Amino acid sequence: MCGIIGYIGKENATPIIFEGLKKSEYRGYDSAGISVSEGGRLMTVKAKGKLSALERLLEALPYSHLGIGHTRWATHGEPNEINSHPHLSTDGKFAIVHNGIIENAAELRRFLCDRGFEMVSDTDSEVIAHLLEYYYHGDMLAAIKSTALKLKGAYALAILSSYTDELYAVKKDSPLIIGLGKNESVITSDIAALPSQCKEYLLPEDNEIGVITEGKAVIYSLGGEPVEKPYFINSGTSDESDKLGYPHYMLKEIFEQPAALENTLAGFSEPDLPKSALSAVILCGCGSAYHAALLSSRYFSRLGVPVSVMYASEFRYCDPLIDSDTLFIAISQSGETADTLFSLRLAAEKGAMTAAVVNVANSSIYREAQIKIPTRAGREIAVATTKGFTTQVEALRLFSAYLTLKAKKITPEEFSLAKSEIAAAASALKTMLSDLKIYQKTAYDIFSAKNIFFIGRREDYALAKEGALKLKEISYIHAESYPAGELKHGTISLIERGSICFAPVTCADLKEKMLSNIKEITARGGSVYVITPFRETFSADAKVLPIPTDGAVYCAASVMQLIAYYTASLKGLDIDKPRNLAKSVTVE
Ligand code: F6R
Repeated sequence: MCGIIGYIGKENATPIIFEGLKKSEYRGYDSAGISVSEGGRLMTVKAKGKLSALERLLEALPYSHLGIGHTRWATHGEPNEINSHPHLSTDGKFAIVHNGIIENAAELRRFLCDRGFEMVSDTDSEVIAHLLEYYYHGDMLAAIKSTALKLKGAYALAILSSYTDELYAVKKDSPLIIGLGKNESVITSDIAALPSQCKEYLLPEDNEIGVITEGKAVIYSLGGEPVEKPYFINSGTSDESDKLGYPHYMLKEIFEQPAALENTLAGFSEPDLPKSALSAVILCGCGSAYHAALLSSRYFSRLGVPVSVMYASEFRYCDPLIDSDTLFIAISQSGETADTLFSLRLAAEKGAMTAAVVNVANSSIYREAQIKIPTRAGREIAVATTKGFTTQVEALRLFSAYLTLKAKKITPEEFSLAKSEIAAAASALKTMLSDLKIYQKTAYDIFSAKNIFFIGRREDYALAKEGALKLKEISYIHAESYPAGELKHGTISLIERGSICFAPVTCADLKEKMLSNIKEITARGGSVYVITPFRETFSADAKVLPIPTDGAVYCAASVMQLIAYYTASLKGLDIDKPRNLAKSVTVE
Protein backbone atom coordinates (compact mmCIF):
# COMPACT_ATOMS: atom_id res chain seq x y z
CA MET A 1 0.00 0.00 0.00
CA CYS A 2 1.04 3.65 0.16
CA GLY A 3 4.64 4.56 0.79
CA ILE A 4 5.47 7.29 3.29
CA ILE A 5 8.79 9.09 3.68
CA GLY A 6 10.05 11.80 5.99
CA TYR A 7 13.48 13.44 6.11
CA ILE A 8 15.26 15.73 8.54
CA GLY A 9 18.97 16.50 8.25
CA LYS A 10 21.65 18.76 6.87
CA GLU A 11 20.90 18.08 3.17
CA ASN A 12 18.15 19.41 0.93
CA ALA A 13 15.12 17.29 1.85
CA THR A 14 13.36 17.18 -1.54
CA PRO A 15 15.79 15.00 -3.56
CA ILE A 16 16.23 12.61 -0.63
CA ILE A 17 12.47 12.27 -0.17
CA PHE A 18 12.01 11.79 -3.91
CA GLU A 19 14.65 9.01 -3.94
CA GLY A 20 12.82 7.37 -1.03
CA LEU A 21 9.55 7.62 -2.93
CA LYS A 22 11.16 5.96 -5.95
CA LYS A 23 12.17 3.03 -3.77
CA SER A 24 8.66 2.87 -2.25
CA GLU A 25 6.76 3.38 -5.49
CA TYR A 26 5.90 -0.32 -5.78
CA ARG A 27 3.70 0.19 -2.70
CA GLY A 28 1.36 2.47 -4.66
CA TYR A 29 1.69 4.49 -7.80
CA ASP A 30 -1.49 6.38 -8.62
CA SER A 31 -0.36 9.79 -7.31
CA ALA A 32 2.34 11.31 -5.15
CA GLY A 33 3.32 14.46 -3.28
CA ILE A 34 5.91 16.17 -1.09
CA SER A 35 5.69 18.91 1.56
CA VAL A 36 8.72 20.72 2.97
CA SER A 37 9.02 23.25 5.73
CA GLU A 38 10.91 26.47 5.17
CA GLY A 39 10.92 29.71 7.16
CA GLY A 40 7.79 28.82 9.12
CA ARG A 41 5.82 27.87 5.99
CA LEU A 42 4.86 24.52 4.53
CA MET A 43 5.20 24.21 0.76
CA THR A 44 3.54 21.32 -1.08
CA VAL A 45 3.57 19.82 -4.56
CA LYS A 46 1.34 16.94 -5.70
CA ALA A 47 0.71 15.14 -8.96
CA LYS A 48 -1.60 12.46 -10.27
CA GLY A 49 0.10 9.44 -11.85
CA LYS A 50 3.53 7.93 -11.48
CA LEU A 51 6.45 9.72 -9.81
CA SER A 52 7.71 11.08 -13.11
CA ALA A 53 4.72 13.49 -13.03
CA LEU A 54 5.75 14.74 -9.60
CA GLU A 55 9.40 15.07 -10.59
CA ARG A 56 8.56 17.90 -12.99
CA LEU A 57 7.16 19.97 -10.09
CA LEU A 58 10.00 19.56 -7.62
CA GLU A 59 11.86 22.70 -8.56
CA ALA A 60 8.96 24.71 -7.14
CA LEU A 61 10.00 23.55 -3.66
CA PRO A 62 12.51 25.65 -1.70
CA TYR A 63 15.74 24.29 -0.18
CA SER A 64 14.68 22.85 3.13
CA HIS A 65 16.13 20.46 5.67
CA LEU A 66 12.90 18.72 6.57
CA GLY A 67 9.91 17.36 4.72
CA ILE A 68 7.56 14.45 4.07
CA GLY A 69 6.44 12.58 0.94
CA HIS A 70 3.89 10.00 -0.15
CA THR A 71 3.19 7.65 -3.02
CA ARG A 72 -0.45 6.60 -3.04
CA TRP A 73 -2.60 3.54 -3.60
CA ALA A 74 -6.11 4.97 -3.45
CA THR A 75 -8.57 3.62 -0.91
CA HIS A 76 -10.91 6.61 -0.38
CA GLY A 77 -11.33 8.98 -3.29
CA GLU A 78 -10.13 8.61 -6.85
CA PRO A 79 -6.48 9.20 -7.72
CA ASN A 80 -6.21 12.93 -8.40
CA GLU A 81 -4.14 15.85 -7.21
CA ILE A 82 -6.50 16.89 -4.42
CA ASN A 83 -6.79 13.41 -2.96
CA SER A 84 -3.06 12.81 -3.06
CA HIS A 85 -0.97 13.33 0.05
CA PRO A 86 0.42 15.27 1.92
CA HIS A 87 -2.84 16.59 3.37
CA LEU A 88 -2.83 19.97 5.08
CA SER A 89 -4.77 21.38 7.99
CA THR A 90 -7.18 24.27 7.37
CA ASP A 91 -4.60 26.79 8.63
CA GLY A 92 -1.87 25.17 6.51
CA LYS A 93 0.38 24.64 9.53
CA PHE A 94 0.25 20.84 9.68
CA ALA A 95 0.96 18.37 6.87
CA ILE A 96 0.59 14.62 7.12
CA VAL A 97 1.25 11.56 4.99
CA HIS A 98 -0.69 8.42 5.87
CA ASN A 99 -0.53 4.72 5.07
CA GLY A 100 -3.57 2.75 6.24
CA ILE A 101 -7.30 3.36 6.53
CA ILE A 102 -9.13 5.55 9.03
CA GLU A 103 -12.33 3.63 9.63
CA ASN A 104 -14.19 6.40 11.49
CA ALA A 105 -13.29 9.08 8.93
CA ALA A 106 -16.94 9.94 8.18
CA GLU A 107 -17.67 10.59 11.85
CA LEU A 108 -14.45 12.63 12.22
CA ARG A 109 -15.31 14.70 9.15
CA ARG A 110 -18.64 15.62 10.77
CA PHE A 111 -16.88 16.42 14.06
CA LEU A 112 -14.43 18.73 12.27
CA CYS A 113 -16.95 20.36 9.92
CA ASP A 114 -19.17 21.21 12.90
CA ARG A 115 -16.17 23.10 14.30
CA GLY A 116 -15.50 25.11 11.16
CA PHE A 117 -12.78 23.01 9.52
CA GLU A 118 -12.80 22.74 5.74
CA MET A 119 -12.38 19.36 4.04
CA VAL A 120 -11.11 19.62 0.50
CA SER A 121 -10.47 15.99 -0.45
CA ASP A 122 -12.50 12.77 -0.52
CA THR A 123 -9.90 10.91 1.53
CA ASP A 124 -10.09 9.36 4.95
CA SER A 125 -6.59 10.71 5.70
CA GLU A 126 -7.29 14.43 5.51
CA VAL A 127 -9.09 14.48 8.88
CA ILE A 128 -5.77 13.75 10.60
CA ALA A 129 -4.23 17.08 9.56
CA HIS A 130 -7.28 19.01 10.78
CA LEU A 131 -7.41 17.08 14.06
CA LEU A 132 -3.78 18.07 14.70
CA GLU A 133 -4.72 21.71 14.21
CA TYR A 134 -7.74 21.29 16.49
CA TYR A 135 -5.74 19.69 19.28
CA TYR A 136 -2.60 21.83 19.00
CA HIS A 137 -2.18 24.30 21.87
CA GLY A 138 1.60 24.72 21.77
CA ASP A 139 2.51 21.07 22.48
CA MET A 140 2.98 18.76 19.45
CA LEU A 141 3.26 15.58 21.48
CA ALA A 142 -0.06 16.32 23.19
CA ALA A 143 -1.72 17.16 19.84
CA ILE A 144 -0.50 13.91 18.28
CA LYS A 145 -1.63 11.91 21.29
CA SER A 146 -5.15 13.44 21.23
CA THR A 147 -5.34 12.89 17.47
CA ALA A 148 -4.20 9.26 17.72
CA LEU A 149 -6.78 8.59 20.41
CA LYS A 150 -9.54 9.82 18.07
CA LEU A 151 -8.51 7.58 15.15
CA LYS A 152 -9.99 4.13 14.52
CA GLY A 153 -8.34 1.92 11.93
CA ALA A 154 -4.77 1.47 10.77
CA TYR A 155 -2.17 4.14 10.27
CA ALA A 156 1.47 4.95 9.89
CA LEU A 157 1.88 8.71 9.86
CA ALA A 158 4.70 11.11 9.18
CA ILE A 159 3.84 14.60 10.43
CA LEU A 160 5.32 18.00 9.66
CA SER A 161 4.38 21.28 11.32
CA SER A 162 5.50 24.81 10.58
CA TYR A 163 5.50 25.44 14.35
CA THR A 164 8.51 23.22 15.00
CA ASP A 165 11.79 22.02 13.48
CA GLU A 166 11.11 18.35 14.16
CA LEU A 167 9.43 15.48 12.38
CA TYR A 168 6.90 13.21 14.05
CA ALA A 169 5.72 9.68 13.43
CA VAL A 170 3.06 7.50 14.97
CA LYS A 171 1.65 4.13 14.02
CA LYS A 172 -1.03 1.53 14.61
CA ASP A 173 -1.24 -1.71 12.61
CA SER A 174 0.80 -0.30 9.70
CA PRO A 175 4.57 -0.58 9.23
CA LEU A 176 6.80 2.33 10.25
CA ILE A 177 10.58 2.55 10.40
CA ILE A 178 12.77 5.36 11.68
CA GLY A 179 16.26 5.32 10.17
CA LEU A 180 19.12 7.18 11.83
CA GLY A 181 22.33 8.46 10.24
CA LYS A 182 25.08 10.74 11.51
CA ASN A 183 23.21 14.00 11.11
CA GLU A 184 19.99 12.90 9.54
CA SER A 185 16.89 10.80 10.14
CA VAL A 186 14.42 9.21 7.78
CA ILE A 187 10.90 7.90 8.34
CA THR A 188 9.73 5.18 5.94
CA SER A 189 7.10 2.51 5.63
CA ASP A 190 9.65 0.15 4.14
CA ILE A 191 13.17 -0.79 5.20
CA ALA A 192 14.14 -0.99 1.53
CA ALA A 193 13.54 2.76 1.19
CA LEU A 194 16.04 3.64 3.94
CA PRO A 195 19.06 5.44 2.46
CA SER A 196 22.37 3.69 3.10
CA GLN A 197 23.59 6.61 5.25
CA CYS A 198 21.03 5.53 7.87
CA LYS A 199 23.16 2.83 9.44
CA GLU A 200 20.65 2.08 12.18
CA TYR A 201 16.91 2.03 12.55
CA LEU A 202 14.21 1.87 15.20
CA LEU A 203 10.86 0.12 14.96
CA PRO A 204 8.15 1.98 16.88
CA GLU A 205 5.34 -0.27 18.13
CA ASP A 206 1.64 0.49 17.86
CA ASN A 207 0.60 3.62 19.79
CA GLU A 208 4.13 4.95 20.10
CA ILE A 209 5.07 8.44 18.94
CA GLY A 210 8.49 9.26 17.50
CA VAL A 211 9.89 12.79 17.88
CA ILE A 212 12.60 12.93 15.26
CA THR A 213 15.50 15.33 14.87
CA GLU A 214 18.78 15.16 12.93
CA GLY A 215 20.22 11.68 13.58
CA LYS A 216 18.09 11.16 16.68
CA ALA A 217 14.64 9.91 17.61
CA VAL A 218 12.94 9.78 20.98
CA ILE A 219 10.02 7.39 21.24
CA TYR A 220 7.14 8.10 23.61
CA SER A 221 4.17 6.05 24.70
CA LEU A 222 0.74 7.59 24.19
CA GLY A 223 0.89 8.35 27.92
CA GLY A 224 3.88 10.63 27.20
CA GLU A 225 6.54 8.36 28.81
CA PRO A 226 9.84 7.92 26.90
CA VAL A 227 10.26 4.31 25.72
CA GLU A 228 13.65 2.57 25.33
CA LYS A 229 13.91 0.90 21.91
CA PRO A 230 16.50 -1.47 20.48
CA TYR A 231 18.55 -0.21 17.52
CA PHE A 232 18.75 -2.46 14.44
CA ILE A 233 21.53 -2.37 11.86
CA ASN A 234 20.49 -1.38 8.33
CA SER A 235 22.10 -4.08 6.20
CA GLY A 236 20.24 -3.24 2.96
CA THR A 237 22.32 -3.18 -0.18
CA SER A 238 21.68 -0.79 -3.00
CA ASP A 239 22.29 -3.37 -5.82
CA GLU A 240 19.02 -5.06 -4.97
CA SER A 241 17.12 -2.18 -6.52
CA ASP A 242 19.14 -2.36 -9.74
CA LYS A 243 17.56 -4.21 -12.70
CA LEU A 244 21.04 -5.50 -13.66
CA GLY A 245 20.26 -5.25 -17.37
CA TYR A 246 16.89 -7.03 -17.26
CA PRO A 247 14.03 -5.07 -18.85
CA HIS A 248 11.85 -5.61 -15.78
CA TYR A 249 12.29 -6.57 -12.13
CA MET A 250 9.86 -9.42 -12.67
CA LEU A 251 12.13 -11.11 -15.20
CA LYS A 252 15.16 -10.51 -13.02
CA GLU A 253 13.34 -12.03 -10.07
CA ILE A 254 12.22 -15.07 -12.10
CA PHE A 255 15.87 -15.64 -12.94
CA GLU A 256 16.92 -15.20 -9.31
CA GLN A 257 14.79 -18.18 -8.26
CA PRO A 258 17.48 -20.88 -8.37
CA ALA A 259 19.74 -18.77 -6.11
CA ALA A 260 16.78 -17.86 -3.88
CA LEU A 261 15.94 -21.57 -3.47
CA GLU A 262 19.58 -22.35 -2.66
CA ASN A 263 19.83 -19.52 -0.13
CA THR A 264 16.59 -20.49 1.57
CA LEU A 265 17.80 -24.08 1.85
CA ALA A 266 21.24 -23.05 3.15
CA GLY A 267 19.67 -20.66 5.66
CA PHE A 268 17.10 -23.14 7.01
CA SER A 269 17.84 -23.67 10.67
CA GLU A 270 15.89 -26.13 12.72
CA PRO A 271 13.43 -24.13 14.80
CA ASP A 272 12.66 -24.75 18.49
CA LEU A 273 9.39 -26.61 18.62
CA PRO A 274 6.87 -26.89 21.42
CA LYS A 275 7.08 -30.12 23.39
CA SER A 276 3.45 -31.22 23.10
CA ALA A 277 2.05 -33.09 20.10
CA LEU A 278 0.15 -31.04 17.55
CA SER A 279 -3.63 -31.34 17.30
CA ALA A 280 -4.04 -29.39 14.04
CA VAL A 281 -2.21 -27.23 11.55
CA ILE A 282 -3.68 -24.09 9.96
CA LEU A 283 -1.90 -22.49 7.01
CA CYS A 284 -2.96 -18.94 6.29
CA GLY A 285 -2.04 -16.24 3.76
CA CYS A 286 -3.32 -14.07 0.93
CA GLY A 287 -3.02 -14.28 -2.86
CA SER A 288 0.06 -16.20 -3.92
CA ALA A 289 0.98 -16.88 -0.29
CA TYR A 290 -2.39 -18.65 0.03
CA HIS A 291 -1.52 -20.69 -3.07
CA ALA A 292 1.83 -21.63 -1.52
CA ALA A 293 -0.08 -22.74 1.57
CA LEU A 294 -2.59 -24.75 -0.48
CA LEU A 295 0.17 -26.46 -2.41
CA SER A 296 2.13 -27.26 0.75
CA SER A 297 -0.80 -28.50 2.82
CA ARG A 298 -0.17 -31.91 1.31
CA TYR A 299 3.31 -31.97 2.86
CA PHE A 300 1.87 -31.28 6.32
CA SER A 301 -0.73 -34.02 6.02
CA ARG A 302 2.00 -36.56 6.82
CA LEU A 303 1.81 -35.29 10.41
CA GLY A 304 -1.45 -37.24 10.71
CA VAL A 305 -3.45 -34.29 12.13
CA PRO A 306 -6.10 -32.14 10.42
CA VAL A 307 -4.52 -29.56 8.13
CA SER A 308 -6.55 -26.61 6.91
CA VAL A 309 -5.72 -23.76 4.56
CA MET A 310 -7.45 -20.42 4.93
CA TYR A 311 -7.46 -17.08 3.18
CA ALA A 312 -6.32 -14.65 5.88
CA SER A 313 -9.13 -12.25 4.96
CA GLU A 314 -11.66 -15.03 5.76
CA PHE A 315 -9.91 -16.57 8.77
CA ARG A 316 -10.54 -13.61 11.04
CA TYR A 317 -14.28 -13.69 10.54
CA CYS A 318 -15.05 -17.41 10.64
CA ASP A 319 -14.66 -18.08 14.34
CA PRO A 320 -11.86 -20.62 13.87
CA LEU A 321 -11.51 -23.62 16.16
CA ILE A 322 -8.12 -23.34 17.83
CA ASP A 323 -6.56 -24.88 20.92
CA SER A 324 -3.11 -24.59 22.46
CA ASP A 325 -1.87 -27.56 20.41
CA THR A 326 -2.88 -25.95 17.13
CA LEU A 327 0.00 -24.73 15.00
CA PHE A 328 -0.95 -21.62 13.06
CA ILE A 329 1.41 -20.81 10.19
CA ALA A 330 1.24 -17.37 8.57
CA ILE A 331 2.78 -17.09 5.12
CA SER A 332 3.78 -13.68 3.79
CA GLN A 333 6.52 -12.41 1.52
CA SER A 334 6.33 -8.83 2.84
CA GLY A 335 5.52 -9.75 6.42
CA GLU A 336 3.19 -6.75 6.51
CA THR A 337 -0.04 -7.95 4.85
CA ALA A 338 -2.74 -6.64 7.16
CA ASP A 339 -5.11 -9.62 6.88
CA THR A 340 -2.32 -12.10 7.57
CA LEU A 341 -0.95 -10.05 10.47
CA PHE A 342 -4.38 -9.75 12.09
CA SER A 343 -5.02 -13.48 11.60
CA LEU A 344 -1.72 -14.28 13.30
CA ARG A 345 -2.72 -12.06 16.22
CA LEU A 346 -6.13 -13.74 16.46
CA ALA A 347 -4.54 -17.19 16.47
CA ALA A 348 -2.09 -16.09 19.18
CA GLU A 349 -4.95 -14.63 21.26
CA LYS A 350 -6.77 -17.95 21.03
CA GLY A 351 -3.69 -19.70 22.39
CA ALA A 352 -2.29 -21.29 19.21
CA MET A 353 1.43 -21.77 18.66
CA THR A 354 2.34 -19.38 15.88
CA ALA A 355 4.87 -19.70 13.10
CA ALA A 356 5.57 -17.46 10.12
CA VAL A 357 7.18 -18.03 6.75
CA VAL A 358 8.35 -14.53 5.84
CA ASN A 359 10.81 -12.98 3.40
CA VAL A 360 11.32 -9.57 5.04
CA ALA A 361 13.21 -9.99 8.29
CA ASN A 362 12.03 -7.70 11.07
CA SER A 363 8.66 -7.17 9.42
CA SER A 364 5.64 -7.20 11.72
CA ILE A 365 4.61 -10.81 11.02
CA TYR A 366 8.20 -11.99 11.42
CA ARG A 367 8.56 -10.22 14.75
CA GLU A 368 5.25 -11.38 16.18
CA ALA A 369 5.40 -15.09 15.30
CA GLN A 370 6.88 -17.46 17.89
CA ILE A 371 8.57 -19.70 15.30
CA LYS A 372 10.30 -17.82 12.47
CA ILE A 373 10.99 -19.54 9.16
CA PRO A 374 12.69 -17.01 6.87
CA THR A 375 12.63 -17.34 3.12
CA ARG A 376 15.82 -15.88 1.70
CA ALA A 377 14.60 -14.71 -1.66
CA GLY A 378 16.23 -11.29 -1.39
CA ARG A 379 14.26 -8.15 -2.04
CA GLU A 380 11.28 -8.59 -4.36
CA ILE A 381 10.35 -5.39 -6.18
CA ALA A 382 8.00 -6.47 -9.00
CA VAL A 383 4.45 -6.32 -7.71
CA ALA A 384 3.69 -9.85 -8.97
CA THR A 385 5.52 -12.28 -6.73
CA THR A 386 7.75 -14.95 -8.29
CA LYS A 387 10.73 -15.90 -6.15
CA GLY A 388 8.66 -14.98 -3.11
CA PHE A 389 6.14 -17.70 -4.01
CA THR A 390 8.59 -20.47 -4.88
CA THR A 391 10.65 -19.91 -1.73
CA GLN A 392 7.46 -19.97 0.36
CA VAL A 393 6.66 -23.41 -1.07
CA GLU A 394 10.22 -24.48 -0.35
CA ALA A 395 10.28 -23.16 3.23
CA LEU A 396 6.95 -24.86 3.94
CA ARG A 397 8.33 -28.10 2.51
CA LEU A 398 11.37 -27.86 4.79
CA PHE A 399 9.35 -26.90 7.83
CA SER A 400 6.84 -29.69 7.29
CA ALA A 401 9.65 -32.22 6.83
CA TYR A 402 11.24 -31.04 10.05
CA LEU A 403 7.94 -31.29 11.96
CA THR A 404 7.30 -34.79 10.65
CA LEU A 405 10.84 -35.79 11.58
CA LYS A 406 10.35 -34.52 15.13
CA ALA A 407 6.98 -36.32 15.29
CA LYS A 408 8.87 -39.46 14.24
CA LYS A 409 6.73 -39.89 11.15
CA ILE A 410 9.73 -39.79 8.85
CA THR A 411 13.34 -40.91 9.31
CA PRO A 412 16.40 -38.60 9.32
CA GLU A 413 17.22 -40.10 5.89
CA GLU A 414 13.85 -39.00 4.53
CA PHE A 415 14.44 -35.54 5.97
CA SER A 416 17.83 -35.35 4.21
CA LEU A 417 16.15 -36.55 1.02
CA ALA A 418 13.66 -33.67 1.20
CA LYS A 419 16.62 -31.27 1.41
CA SER A 420 18.49 -32.86 -1.47
CA GLU A 421 15.33 -32.74 -3.61
CA ILE A 422 15.28 -28.97 -3.12
CA ALA A 423 18.97 -28.67 -4.03
CA ALA A 424 18.23 -30.67 -7.19
CA ALA A 425 15.22 -28.45 -7.93
CA ALA A 426 17.37 -25.30 -7.85
CA SER A 427 19.82 -26.75 -10.32
CA ALA A 428 17.09 -28.14 -12.64
CA LEU A 429 15.40 -24.76 -12.67
CA LYS A 430 18.66 -23.04 -13.56
CA THR A 431 19.01 -25.32 -16.61
CA MET A 432 15.38 -24.83 -17.61
CA LEU A 433 15.77 -21.05 -17.57
CA SER A 434 18.59 -21.19 -20.10
CA ASP A 435 16.17 -21.54 -23.05
CA LEU A 436 13.12 -19.30 -23.13
CA LYS A 437 11.96 -19.61 -26.74
CA ILE A 438 9.08 -21.98 -26.05
CA TYR A 439 7.58 -19.59 -23.45
CA GLN A 440 7.92 -16.60 -25.76
CA LYS A 441 6.23 -18.60 -28.54
CA THR A 442 3.42 -19.70 -26.20
CA ALA A 443 2.87 -16.08 -25.14
CA TYR A 444 2.63 -15.12 -28.81
CA ASP A 445 -0.05 -17.80 -29.33
CA ILE A 446 -2.22 -16.68 -26.42
CA PHE A 447 -1.76 -12.94 -26.00
CA SER A 448 -4.97 -11.98 -27.82
CA ALA A 449 -7.14 -14.43 -25.84
CA LYS A 450 -9.96 -13.03 -23.72
CA ASN A 451 -10.29 -15.98 -21.32
CA ILE A 452 -7.96 -18.77 -20.34
CA PHE A 453 -8.56 -21.76 -18.07
CA PHE A 454 -6.04 -23.31 -15.70
CA ILE A 455 -6.79 -26.78 -14.36
CA GLY A 456 -4.97 -29.12 -12.01
CA ARG A 457 -5.39 -31.73 -9.30
CA ARG A 458 -4.10 -31.56 -5.71
CA GLU A 459 -0.73 -29.71 -5.68
CA ASP A 460 -1.28 -28.98 -9.36
CA TYR A 461 -4.59 -27.31 -8.56
CA ALA A 462 -2.72 -24.87 -6.30
CA LEU A 463 -0.25 -24.34 -9.15
CA ALA A 464 -3.15 -23.73 -11.55
CA LYS A 465 -4.51 -21.08 -9.20
CA GLU A 466 -1.11 -19.41 -9.04
CA GLY A 467 -0.70 -19.57 -12.84
CA ALA A 468 -4.12 -17.98 -13.37
CA LEU A 469 -3.41 -15.23 -10.84
CA LYS A 470 -0.06 -14.39 -12.45
CA LEU A 471 -1.62 -14.14 -15.92
CA LYS A 472 -4.54 -12.02 -14.72
CA GLU A 473 -2.56 -9.56 -12.69
CA ILE A 474 0.06 -8.61 -15.23
CA SER A 475 -1.48 -9.37 -18.66
CA TYR A 476 -5.08 -8.41 -17.75
CA ILE A 477 -6.38 -11.55 -19.49
CA HIS A 478 -9.21 -13.10 -17.56
CA ALA A 479 -8.15 -16.51 -16.29
CA GLU A 480 -10.05 -19.03 -14.24
CA SER A 481 -8.56 -21.90 -12.28
CA TYR A 482 -10.43 -25.10 -11.57
CA PRO A 483 -9.79 -28.45 -9.97
CA ALA A 484 -9.55 -30.51 -13.17
CA GLY A 485 -12.34 -32.87 -12.16
CA GLU A 486 -14.73 -29.97 -11.42
CA LEU A 487 -14.90 -28.54 -14.90
CA LYS A 488 -17.56 -30.99 -16.03
CA HIS A 489 -19.82 -29.91 -13.15
CA GLY A 490 -20.82 -26.75 -14.97
CA THR A 491 -17.93 -24.73 -16.34
CA ILE A 492 -17.24 -27.03 -19.26
CA SER A 493 -20.17 -25.29 -20.96
CA LEU A 494 -17.77 -22.42 -21.62
CA ILE A 495 -15.33 -24.61 -23.58
CA GLU A 496 -15.69 -24.22 -27.34
CA ARG A 497 -13.49 -24.25 -30.44
CA GLY A 498 -10.51 -22.00 -29.73
CA SER A 499 -10.73 -22.10 -25.90
CA ILE A 500 -7.30 -22.16 -24.32
CA CYS A 501 -6.39 -24.10 -21.21
CA PHE A 502 -3.19 -24.62 -19.23
CA ALA A 503 -2.67 -27.72 -17.13
CA PRO A 504 0.32 -28.10 -14.83
CA VAL A 505 0.79 -31.84 -14.19
CA THR A 506 3.50 -32.67 -11.66
CA CYS A 507 1.68 -35.33 -9.60
CA ALA A 508 2.72 -38.65 -11.17
CA ASP A 509 -0.12 -40.58 -9.51
CA LEU A 510 -2.74 -38.29 -11.05
CA LYS A 511 -1.46 -37.98 -14.59
CA GLU A 512 -3.92 -40.46 -16.12
CA LYS A 513 -6.84 -38.69 -14.44
CA MET A 514 -5.53 -35.41 -15.84
CA LEU A 515 -5.28 -36.94 -19.30
CA SER A 516 -9.00 -37.78 -19.18
CA ASN A 517 -9.87 -34.22 -18.15
CA ILE A 518 -7.69 -32.82 -20.91
CA LYS A 519 -9.38 -35.05 -23.48
CA GLU A 520 -12.74 -33.68 -22.29
CA ILE A 521 -11.52 -30.22 -23.32
CA THR A 522 -9.92 -31.14 -26.64
CA ALA A 523 -13.02 -33.16 -27.59
CA ARG A 524 -14.94 -29.87 -27.45
CA GLY A 525 -12.48 -27.96 -29.62
CA GLY A 526 -10.34 -26.45 -26.85
CA SER A 527 -6.57 -26.60 -26.90
CA VAL A 528 -4.51 -27.48 -23.85
CA TYR A 529 -0.91 -26.63 -22.91
CA VAL A 530 0.34 -29.23 -20.45
CA ILE A 531 3.29 -28.21 -18.27
CA THR A 532 4.75 -31.51 -17.22
CA PRO A 533 7.75 -33.81 -16.94
CA PHE A 534 5.51 -36.64 -18.32
CA ARG A 535 5.71 -35.68 -21.97
CA GLU A 536 4.80 -39.14 -23.37
CA THR A 537 1.48 -39.26 -21.50
CA PHE A 538 0.19 -36.06 -23.07
CA SER A 539 1.94 -35.46 -26.39
CA ALA A 540 -0.80 -37.07 -28.50
CA ASP A 541 -3.57 -34.89 -27.02
CA ALA A 542 -2.01 -31.59 -26.02
CA LYS A 543 0.84 -29.16 -26.57
CA VAL A 544 3.48 -30.12 -24.04
CA LEU A 545 5.69 -27.56 -22.30
CA PRO A 546 8.27 -29.96 -20.87
CA ILE A 547 9.80 -29.42 -17.43
CA PRO A 548 12.42 -31.45 -15.56
CA THR A 549 11.35 -34.17 -13.12
CA ASP A 550 13.54 -32.67 -10.39
CA GLY A 551 11.79 -29.72 -8.82
CA ALA A 552 8.78 -30.09 -11.13
CA VAL A 553 6.60 -27.93 -8.87
CA TYR A 554 9.06 -25.00 -8.89
CA CYS A 555 9.69 -25.40 -12.62
CA ALA A 556 5.95 -25.48 -13.47
CA ALA A 557 5.42 -22.32 -11.41
CA SER A 558 8.29 -20.63 -13.25
CA VAL A 559 6.94 -21.65 -16.68
CA MET A 560 3.62 -20.00 -15.87
CA GLN A 561 5.42 -16.89 -14.56
CA LEU A 562 7.36 -16.65 -17.83
CA ILE A 563 4.29 -17.10 -19.99
CA ALA A 564 2.46 -14.40 -18.03
CA TYR A 565 5.53 -12.18 -18.31
CA TYR A 566 5.97 -12.54 -22.07
CA THR A 567 2.22 -12.16 -22.66
CA ALA A 568 2.17 -8.87 -20.73
CA SER A 569 5.30 -7.81 -22.59
CA LEU A 570 3.68 -8.44 -25.99
CA LYS A 571 0.73 -6.34 -24.87
CA GLY A 572 3.12 -3.54 -23.91
CA LEU A 573 1.90 -3.40 -20.31
CA ASP A 574 3.61 -1.99 -17.23
CA ILE A 575 4.74 -5.38 -15.93
CA ASP A 576 6.36 -4.35 -12.67
CA LYS A 577 3.52 -2.05 -11.67
CA PRO A 578 0.23 -3.53 -12.91
CA ARG A 579 -2.82 -1.29 -12.74
CA ASN A 580 -4.75 -0.98 -9.47
CA LEU A 581 -2.25 -3.05 -7.53
CA ALA A 582 0.40 -2.44 -4.91
CA LYS A 583 2.94 -4.63 -3.23
CA SER A 584 2.48 -5.17 0.49
CA VAL A 585 -1.24 -4.83 1.16
CA THR A 586 -1.33 -3.11 4.52
CA VAL A 587 -5.06 -2.43 4.58
CA GLU A 588 -7.84 -4.96 5.15
C1 F6R B 1 0.49 -11.98 -6.48
C2 F6R B 1 0.92 -11.35 -5.24
C3 F6R B 1 -0.05 -11.22 -4.15
C4 F6R B 1 0.63 -11.50 -2.79
C5 F6R B 1 -0.34 -11.23 -1.64
C6 F6R B 1 0.27 -11.56 -0.30
O1 F6R B 1 1.51 -12.01 -7.43
O2 F6R B 1 2.05 -10.90 -5.13
O3 F6R B 1 -1.16 -12.05 -4.32
O4 F6R B 1 1.05 -12.83 -2.77
O5 F6R B 1 -0.73 -9.89 -1.67
O6 F6R B 1 1.42 -10.80 -0.07
P1 F6R B 1 2.44 -11.21 1.06
O7 F6R B 1 3.06 -12.52 0.67
O8 F6R B 1 3.43 -10.09 1.09
O9 F6R B 1 1.67 -11.33 2.33
